[in-house]
Amino acid sequence: MNLNNVTMDLSAVSKKQYPDTSMPEFAMAGRSNVGKSSLINRVLNRRKFARVSQTPGKTATINFYNIDDKIHLVDLPGYGYAKVSDKERLKWANMIDEYLSEREQLVAVILLVDLRHKPTDDDVTMMNWIKGNGFSPIVIGTKYDKLKPSQREASLELVRATLGLTDADVFIPFSAVTGYGRDEIIEILEEACDYAESTKRD
Ligand code: GTP
Ligand code: MG
Repeated sequence: MNLNNVTMDLSAVSKKQYPDTSMPEFAMAGRSNVGKSSLINRVLNRRKFARVSQTPGKTATINFYNIDDKIHLVDLPGYGYAKVSDKERLKWANMIDEYLSEREQLVAVILLVDLRHKPTDDDVTMMNWIKGNGFSPIVIGTKYDKLKPSQREASLELVRATLGLTDADVFIPFSAVTGYGRDEIIEILEEACDYAESTKRD
């Protein structure tokens, strides 16, 4: 998988705008401001590819990033941002819901949680949806660089306990600033990519 061959395929707000391809899709879900766009930039080593916000709630569309014509990384709008109107929030929730419940190309939902805080009720709801729909949990804890070394173990444990993760579940601490955890994320994408190749029909 060539990580230098990436394009932003399109932004969608409803399913008729989703790309018409059979490439496997990895969706990234998480609270607004958790660091989804920053993660995409760091994983792809592009500084300004996905738009990073000072003001939360910037990514208000579903963005499809094409990696080497092999997989799509799908940046979902962030949930749980308090300062937008109820109407706007409902619109985003419906957008996320429509994608997750109907998209056949979806192979995994990566849940991002901010390691500095206890996962929110929305995070728990998302985790339960992921498990309830037969996907294996993949959790990425963001902003690892913001933790003091003495806080790290307790922070990771709080996430595990709140989301009900077992040792078998994938949980990767990550920092978009230092790149900590990047290799593990790439490994997961590569594995899925190889799997998709091996099951592809001519
Ligand atoms: P929405 O698109 O609004 O849902 O946000 P998002 O999840 O895409 O978050 P984004 O990547 O825009 O990052 C939000 C803020 O957190 C920005 O100010 C980033 O610079 C900061 N940030 C993201 N990841 C990290 C990280 O690993 N470490 C540190 N220190 N800051 C981070
Ligand atoms: Mg974003």
